[in-house]
Parts: sequence; structure tokens; C-alpha cells
Amino acid sequence: MRTIAELMNLRDRKALVVGGAGGVGSAVCETLQEMGAVVGILDLKGGKTGLSFICDLKNEEATGEATEKAISEMGGVDILVHCAAYVGETKVPGWSVPFENQTTTAWNDAVTVNLTSAFVLARTCWKSLEKSGNGSIILFSSIYGMVAPNFGLYEGTSMINPAAYNASKGGLLQLMRYLATLFAPKIRVNAISPGGIVRNYPEAFTKRYEAKTPLGRLAVDEDLKGAVAYLASDLSEYVTGHNLIIDGGWTTW
Ligand SMILES: NC(=O)c1ccc[n+]([C@@H]2O[C@H](COP(=O)([O-])OP(=O)(O)OC[C@H]3O[C@@H](n4cnc5c(N)ncnc54)[C@H](O)[C@@H]3O)[C@@H](O)[C@H]2O)c1
Repeated sequence: MRTIAELMNLRDRKALVVGGAGGVGSAVCETLQEMGAVVGILDLKGGKTGLSFICDLKNEEATGEATEKAISEMGGVDILVHCAAYVGETKVPGWSVPFENQTTTAWNDAVTVNLTSAFVLARTCWKSLEKSGNGSIILFSSIYGMVAPNFGLYEGTSMINPAAYNASKGGLLQLMRYLATLFAPKIRVNAISPGGIVRNYPEAFTKRYEAKTPLGRLAVDEDLKGAVAYLASDLSEYVTGHNLIIDGGWTTW
């Protein structure tokens, strides 16, 4: 029987982290590097660490090309993590605005980045992940892929929870289940669904959110490290099609 240290060793594995320059993405890259993996980042901007492959996920052709380049430069891919997204703080017209002003252009762009690009990435990396023998895909969804926003939390603040965020995150969970059975037994596919993570939120929101969270606080990026370590490595060798919820108990009641 292998030891825990052996099961979590990612030496000689290559990881592609889509959205790896962001808050969660940086914690994901740090985790995988600490475990021994070579990390490549696919993002609009360069990451804090690892090889950078710049691309706009709204452009399918550019995404395909950047992904192929990453696979070729890293010499394959064993782990694919998708955590790029239009989030509440994303500043584009028609996105983080009251419902009546949310546009189909912003909706389509958000669905392309949050959901469609995960499909494109999985399709492009499929054969390389299959060759790996240890292929693992992790898609970042959200509590808002499972439950509706409690709009009372946002009252009197400038925060908005756009409709397309929720729709795309729900879609990601079903894409994860589809890929989990399609790619079995060679590649495992799982999701991580975080609750609210500390960002520059208004105090009124933070207080209301924390009061409704069983563990009494927002998450920090570090809270995701254990979930990534588990799902990326052989620690979870018999786990596929699972949605690992990291929400301090938010969805329990
Ligand atoms: N922050 C939270 O409270 C929270 C809660 C639940 C789930 N999540 C999920 O975790 C993931 C990471 O969130 P985060 O807080 O780190 O967000 P973030 O904004 O810090 O990171 C998102 C990354 O995606 C990249 N990105 C956005 N649009 C892109 C595009 N068109 N092309 C290429 N890259 C693009 C950004 O450059 C950024 O590096 C997201 O999937 C998000 O939905 C976050």
C-alpha cells in the first residue's frame, strides 16, 4: 500500500491551470507546484508563478492554439484545472449591473468564458490526458451552481450577482458529470464548488454572509488548497463525478 506522501506526489506531472493568474488560480498553482508538478497557466494575463500562455478564452481558435502550445511546451498534460471566470467584480458593460440592464452580449461572453471554454479545453486536452494514465480534470463551479442567491444579502450595496454567473456555474456541474462518465476509466473529472471568498466586499454584505454561514466566515483562497491537492492527485484515484463543496456549510441548511 502506498503512503499518503506517495499518493500526493505530483512529481513528473504537468498541470494546466486555466485562470491561473487569478486569486483562486494562484492558490491552485501554488498547491500543484508544492506537490511537485510543472504548472502552466492559461489566462488573459501572466500568473505569479509557472509558465504563462496568454489567451482570451472568448476566442475559441486562440484558446485551442494556446492550449496546444502549452501541451507541446510542457510535454503533455496530466492535470487540467479550469478556474477562469467572469466573476461579480468583472468590469464589462451589461454584466455586473441590475437585472434589467444585463445584456445578452455580456451573458454570451460570460457563458463562453465560464462554461464553453471548459468544454473546449477538455476536448483539446482529452488525448493528452488519456495518455497520462493519471489524468484529472477539476472544474471550478460555485455554491451558485447549486443554489440561488439570497438577494437580501446584497441589499443597499453595490454588489450584483449576475444571472449568467449562476446559469454558467450550474452548467459546469453537469458538464463535469458528462465528462466524468465519457472519459472514464482513463480520466477522472470532478468539480470544486466554493462559497464566497474574501475579496473587496462591502462590510454590510460580509456581515450578513458570515451570519448565515455555519462556520461563521467567508472563505480565503487558502481554503481551496486541500480540495485541489485531493482531486488533482492519486489521493482521489477512485473518485470521479464528484462535486466537492468548500462553503463553510453554506449549502447545508
Ligand atoms: N471569489 C469567489 O467568491 C468565488 C466563489 C465561488 C466560486 N468562485 C470561482 O472560483 C474561480 C476563480 O475565482 P477568483 O475569485 O479567483 O476570480 P479572479 O477574477 O481572481 O480570477 C479569474 C481569472 O480568470 C481570468 N479570465 C477572466 N476572463 C478571461 C478570459 N476571457 N480569458 C482568459 N482568462 C480570463 C482572469 O484574468 C483571472 O485571472 C471562478 O471560477 C469563480 O467563479 C469564486
